[in-house]
Amino acid sequence: MYPVIEWKENKVIMLDQRLLPQEEKFIIHSHYTEVARSIKNMVIRGAPAIGVAAAMGVALGVLNGEAETEQDYQRMLSLFSRTRPTAINLFWALDKMRNLYYRFKNNPEELKQKVIEEALTMDREDVVTNKKIGRNGECLLRSGQTVLTHCNAGALATAGYGTALGVIRAAVENRKKISVIAGETRPYLQGARLTVWELQRDHIPVTLVTDNSAGYLMSKGKIDAVIVGADRIALNGDTANKIGTYSIAVLAKFHHIPFYVAAPISTIDFSLESGKDIPIEERGKEEVIRFRDQIIASPETKVINPGFDITPYRLITAIITEKKVIYPDYKSEIRRLSE
Ligand code: MRU
Repeated sequence: MYPVIEWKENKVIMLDQRLLPQEEKFIIHSHYTEVARSIKNMVIRGAPAIGVAAAMGVALGVLNGEAETEQDYQRMLSLFSRTRPTAINLFWALDKMRNLYYRFKNNPEELKQKVIEEALTMDREDVVTNKKIGRNGECLLRSGQTVLTHCNAGALATAGYGTALGVIRAAVENRKKISVIAGETRPYLQGARLTVWELQRDHIPVTLVTDNSAGYLMSKGKIDAVIVGADRIALNGDTANKIGTYSIAVLAKFHHIPFYVAAPISTIDFSLESGKDIPIEERGKEEVIRFRDQIIASPETKVINPGFDITPYRLITAIITEKKVIYPDYKSEIRRLSE
């Protein structure tokens, strides 16, 4: 196993996902500002992993005495909240850390202990949650099927095991023969660089395709199901995930292929009625016109680079959570999940 993120000797250690698959390098973080920078710069990415990283970052800030006054603590939380706007798991984690501050602020030593405990619990529980998602979802897959996934919703996007890839892993552990088709996921290539890397390490058959082949492959009967992760799910089931997910969902509907979202309940934003209010991260043009030091479009080119899109609930066959698999009508099902 490769630790995506680890708390070790009061430092936060992260696998630098920007360098995969060529290099496996770890970055050691000693200050919370470094952790925030690593979230922003995509050293670590994927909704649940971002949440765990932010919690560990806050714990580091408290431990180092960098956030002793209420003002400093708020400043620290605000820095993290500005790193990646779409994944709700970030804000879910920060809310937990905020609550701890107000409960233990009069006892700095206890606060230190509590924030570290909370961050480590979040890390541990995320893996347990993903295994439950896997167990709940794997019965939707049959042996011999080929599953299309987009971006990376695997071990690298979480504290371990993964959500969408967790479902595939659980099916394989249950002796089902599953093949994966991974879309490259332009422009950041999470599919090509990360999903392929982690599935190959687990010896799960994976084939890489360009993002624009999905329709062709579906029309040829090469895809039996689609499973993706989520960055934020609204009360009605509308789901934000990596840009390109919506197009795949439309294609899946047209070809009568089931389209599943696998996500922990912490990815649900119970305050949003629909996906129209989910903030979509706009990323810089450099990612599109360049790959590492390779220029692929002239520097003057105008670029639009949204990091995520919203898949309307009508296109989603089921949402796989750690409690259960839910089907439309999502609104009432999702409300019940919070009970
Ligand atoms: O920009 P990223 O790489 O953080 O985007 C990641 C995704 O869109 C994942 O599919 C999502 O976070 C689910 S991860 C279990």
